[in-house]
Amino acid sequence: MPKYIKINKKISSFNKKIFVDGDKSLSIRWALLASQAKGTSRAYNLLRSDDVLNTLNCLKKLGIKIKLKNKFCEIIGKGLNGYNYKKNLTLDAGNSGTLGRLILGLLIHSKKNIKLIGDKSLSKRDFSRVTKPLKKFGANFYYKKKRGLPVTILGSKFINPIKYIENRGSAQCKSSVMFAALNTKGTTFIKAKKSRNHSELLFKHLKIPIKIKKTKKYDLIKIKGKKEIKPFNYRIPGDISSSAFFMVLTALSDKSKLLIKDVNINYSRVGVIKILKKMGVKILIKNKKNYNGEKIADIYIESSKNLKAINCPVDLNSSAIDEFLIIFLVAAKAKGISHFKNLSELNQKESPRLEWGSKILNMMNIKTKVTSHSIKIFGNPKIEVKNIIQIKNYLKDHRIFMMSTIAALTFGGTWKIQNPESIKTSFPSFLKLIKNLSIKT
Ligand code: S3P
Repeated sequence: MPKYIKINKKISSFNKKIFVDGDKSLSIRWALLASQAKGTSRAYNLLRSDDVLNTLNCLKKLGIKIKLKNKFCEIIGKGLNGYNYKKNLTLDAGNSGTLGRLILGLLIHSKKNIKLIGDKSLSKRDFSRVTKPLKKFGANFYYKKKRGLPVTILGSKFINPIKYIENRGSAQCKSSVMFAALNTKGTTFIKAKKSRNHSELLFKHLKIPIKIKKTKKYDLIKIKGKKEIKPFNYRIPGDISSSAFFMVLTALSDKSKLLIKDVNINYSRVGVIKILKKMGVKILIKNKKNYNGEKIADIYIESSKNLKAINCPVDLNSSAIDEFLIIFLVAAKAKGISHFKNLSELNQKESPRLEWGSKILNMMNIKTKVTSHSIKIFGNPKIEVKNIIQIKNYLKDHRIFMMSTIAALTFGGTWKIQNPESIKTSFPSFLKLIKNLSIKT
């Protein structure tokens, strides 16, 4: 792929049906759990993105056999704690916080040192948020830097269950501890602020002893460890986070309609739909189905005029955490001042997204007021970008690339956007799908 793409024309109107790539959170969780099952598990529609391919590569290095075919992926698990590997192994999580943080949970029993590394962006991210609770289980870690990668897991012979309070609303922290509990004799208690619950639903589907009590703000989770996991087949639904770019593309384009088929609409992920609806986007959920605890549906969107600013309720933050960049574009065109608060976690992602998102809006002549945890966006319903905009994306943030592409296609101007290959992280077919929307049929 080239170093950057250039866009100097808005997308013309479209009326299409698309499928987006498989869900990233579920693809990574399926692979990690399948590696702990005893026997052969199979996944259909597994996301073939770098984050997932890095997951498969890490598992191969841990001695797990994997067959990646055109239509499916098979993992031949060796049971709980069944990894087999040489001394001083290095695992590369690439760009993936989910992989890096969840796999550490599965490795707390390791008797040999394992070094976890990642790319430039991941190496800057905070891993102490998972190594702190994993240390409480009894595992040991060695950091060269303060709390970023590389980190070496030294493991321990004596692992005991823990009580853990997760206060960030981070599914990665919660799931890392859940994965550690899986291999730990006894009962682990987790009090977790609401966040995506794919791990919980998969645990239930796999009949792993888990009990969940829901309160308004927290989920109280109890997991009894050491229950053998049976192999399982799974069809990964479309990713709502990838769909969100196409929802906003359609809403901000002229005379367009789009149907996105078979998307995961788990309630802990649909914040983007709730927020867009509140802002006046015409969006409908059709054809709802249940699938192994998850919910799947088709999402229908139309071009939307008269967009309204939002004072975004903070209780929607965790269910839209990966979608704020693209939501900011709707706020840029809405009438009034939108306010998004309590979002310090956005600066903890692949790049500092609150900061960078605000800078991109400013380049489009949209006024913002940004702090370390909030942003006010002064919308302009008549927005037309006329200038030349260069997006330097040196941390290769896939969502910064995709947000900028959607802005270029809907607001006009001339855009040079760096690092198109970043889409391989989460949504490899992104540019191909856009090209197909432009083809008249
Ligand atoms: C994810 C959780 C979220 C999200 C990430 C995927 C997951 O991160 O941003 O893209 O699959 O658990 P946090 O849990 O750190 O908020």
